[in-house]
Amino acid sequence: MTLRPILIHPDPRLKTVCKPVGDLTDDIHRLAEDMLATMYDAPGVGLAAPQVGVLSRMLVMDCVKDPEAKPRPMVLINPQVIWASDDRSVYEEGCLSIPEQYAEVERPAEVAVRWTDLNGQQQEEQFDKLWATCVQHEIDHLDGKLFIDYLKPLKRQMITRKMVKLKREQARETERG
Ligand code: NI
Repeated sequence: MTLRPILIHPDPRLKTVCKPVGDLTDDIHRLAEDMLATMYDAPGVGLAAPQVGVLSRMLVMDCVKDPEAKPRPMVLINPQVIWASDDRSVYEEGCLSIPEQYAEVERPAEVAVRWTDLNGQQQEEQFDKLWATCVQHEIDHLDGKLFIDYLKPLKRQMITRKMVKLKREQARETERG
């Protein structure tokens, strides 16, 4: 298991429509393990493959936030929203690729999602609350879409400028060693 570096916006790989996953190779199993470990380490409730530079339609999530409760690590391969409620809900979203920036985003309150699991089995489940927000946010990543794309251009540009500055500072620190 290896923690993988998380790409920070802006990065062209975060704007790419990802390719479907084909065979469930050892690489895919390793990627799933690494992504879960990277997500828990961050810590975050969801992570999509493009965030670690792999342009494949795969995401991990675990929205059990109560530290006393049993974790529920999920790996969704080629996920698709097959139904969305008319009811909408607003959540304050964040993203591991846009650290420390949060904004309210409105999305369908419930969605049904179909995906392939790591055993190659087709799964289907209806999600609500944080799970619904998270799964939609992560599937957006697979289509090169970030939560800031839902915001007004001015707010989006402000956040992007902060991230450019953050990346510049990080690069400088790396140079210094
Ligand atoms: Ni995200």
